[in-house]
Amino acid sequence: MKATALAHPNIAFIKYWGNLDENLHIPANGSISLCLEGLTTRTSVLFDPSLEHDHLTLDGQSMQGEPLVRVSAFLDHVRRLARMNIYAQVNSGNNFPSGAGIASSASAFAALALAATSALGFELSEPALSSLARLGSGSACRSIPSGFVEWLPGTCHADSYAISIAPPCHWDLVDCIAIVDRSHKHTGSARGMALAHTSPLQAERIKTAPGRLDRCRQAILKHDFDAFADVVEEDSDLMHAVMRTSTPPLAYMQPATHRIVAAVRNWRKEGHAVCTTVDAGPNVHILCLADEQTFVQTRLKETPGVNEVLTAKPGSGACLAV
Ligand code: DP6
Repeated sequence: MKATALAHPNIAFIKYWGNLDENLHIPANGSISLCLEGLTTRTSVLFDPSLEHDHLTLDGQSMQGEPLVRVSAFLDHVRRLARMNIYAQVNSGNNFPSGAGIASSASAFAALALAATSALGFELSEPALSSLARLGSGSACRSIPSGFVEWLPGTCHADSYAISIAPPCHWDLVDCIAIVDRSHKHTGSARGMALAHTSPLQAERIKTAPGRLDRCRQAILKHDFDAFADVVEEDSDLMHAVMRTSTPPLAYMQPATHRIVAAVRNWRKEGHAVCTTVDAGPNVHILCLADEQTFVQTRLKETPGVNEVLTAKPGSGACLAV
């Protein structure tokens, strides 16, 4: 009744921002992402008949309140699947900062979905496991498959899941993450994206998403960095435009975020294969070809406002730990 699983966060190239069904996390548009090697969540789940409620420790600290409620609600889905009512001890740890624009909820619920189902002896298919992880956090469905991943939005629980479109070895991309601020974000993704429909730009973003998904998928499959950079930056800008024009408006970017994005655009004009994308936080993901990594790291260290740089290569999907 115990299992341990590992999962990586993912960075979205085409973003998920807004749901058709907020409870089931059925997204308003499909999205494309990359699993990030080296940044890892490790989660063990022990179902123990002697427990009177679920317990959660995160990075060694016992958690109460919202994080425990969210984990417990997710375990309820797994218990329903297994038709049993035993509580669990969940121990989870990240080797990267949580809540600062690196999607820790994605790797958290991907690892939890795999560990919890394995602890109960289930072997779900990859799509079924991806759908299950999605119930915990939308983007978690994209941390189940390996490498370059597309979330097929679907219209109901069973057909909204992610698939791998190319393995990690397909393209030598590197994500250099410029950490601007490690503190927790003020408005979580769930609350933020619930406002997306109040922006007059969201309907247009959703309508035009299939075109950007095609461009991004083709650019990845053809290793076309220029086409990739154009669509990734366009999609990130569109999501932040929706955020800024929501009611109330949301601004996840800080002055340093804008400075870094502008600097990277200049490097690209100078001929470097680099581009940026920013999630619901102030940190900047600088995507580059592997032979540009040293250049990017050196220049980022000289850029004011960058506290730290994490780097990640294309990573594998969720797996069980031995
Ligand atoms: C900006 O998956 O964290 O990172 O489903 O409410 O847990 P919940 O949201 P979450 O949202 C991720 C939003 C994003 C864009 C993306 O990863 O596609």
